[in-house]
Amino acid sequence: MATSTVEVAAPAQDTFPINGTDYIEFYVGNAKQAALYYRAAFGFQLVAYRGPETGSRDRASYLLQQDKIRFVLTTAVRPDLSEDARRIADHVYAHGDGVRDLALWVDDARDAFAKAVERGAIPVQEPTVLKDDDGEIVIAAFRIYGQTVHSLVERRNYHGLFMPGFVAVTPHYAPPAVGLKYVDHCVGNVELGKMNYWVDFYAHVMGFRNLLTFDDKTISTEYSSLMSKVMANGNDRIKFPINEPASGKRKSQIDEYLDFYDGPGVQHMALATDDIIKTVTTLRDRGVEFLSVPTTYYQELQGRLGKIDEPIEELEKLGILVDRDPDGYLLQIFTKPVEDRPTVFYEIIQRKGAKSFGAGNFKALFEAIEREQGLRGNL
Ligand code: FE2
Repeated sequence: MATSTVEVAAPAQDTFPINGTDYIEFYVGNAKQAALYYRAAFGFQLVAYRGPETGSRDRASYLLQQDKIRFVLTTAVRPDLSEDARRIADHVYAHGDGVRDLALWVDDARDAFAKAVERGAIPVQEPTVLKDDDGEIVIAAFRIYGQTVHSLVERRNYHGLFMPGFVAVTPHYAPPAVGLKYVDHCVGNVELGKMNYWVDFYAHVMGFRNLLTFDDKTISTEYSSLMSKVMANGNDRIKFPINEPASGKRKSQIDEYLDFYDGPGVQHMALATDDIIKTVTTLRDRGVEFLSVPTTYYQELQGRLGKIDEPIEELEKLGILVDRDPDGYLLQIFTKPVEDRPTVFYEIIQRKGAKSFGAGNFKALFEAIEREQGLRGNL
């Protein structure tokens, strides 16, 4: 196979230390309703709020949490009041609901920001100190693809719940969690010819390395194809695959995304669980829609993968995919886009040793995506 799956050893010294994902911030048209969707369907808890009632006149933000995953849903309440609020509203106009910020937790935000800018990152927010009775946070941000940014969040002198400005809430409505644990990886879609630009950016600016490469021969169906490189940070806690479209007979799923998102942006976030059968059963019961693969996939599965712990009938019933690599295996499933524009979706993943991304499933998966793309008239 033409795929290069040679793992590159981590450099001896991490030139851009990151502790982990801090939060993912979405700019949305109606944060109140989006928050209810993620609580009711995905089992997130609403833990804090910032809005007009708490002194933030121009915007509202809801902090949702499930185990280590933090989502912030932000909307403009008065775009006329500030440049920031106007920027939020403009983002929603251009992209629909989408990811603005893949925020990273660092020990020293000033130092990390200075290094990033020195190495070529474009600043969005100079280091800013936010204070309240629980201490202070230092936050800075720089641009990545499209209108997406990385905030750098320093919390070593902060003991509060999340961030100054947010007020803790304990709502009466608190549907149980579905077992989502942490962000496994976040995938960006970029324009044709730009994948290597962003691969170089992550390598040079942030000390990431290229963990895996999938070329257009690996990721191609009868109709379309794409190329992808997975970038990982020094401690492997952050993984950012970058996709670009490749030419096929018809329009690539990446092209469809770029059209509807009006440019590059975050395509999907993979959320990890310890019990994918239970998690996916619950998500389905709560209205989350998943892509399905043909039954032939499961007929071939046993021969392809050998023995696995989970009953194949259960996996087939739910549409969960399985793939193996030298370290073990993984189970994964993909939601349909979670909004009207065919842009952002989620992957639910359970790793049983495997460190890869399910390359053995790409064909079945992309054919499933293309069936949906065809229904939308975009293939
Ligand atoms: Fe993924």
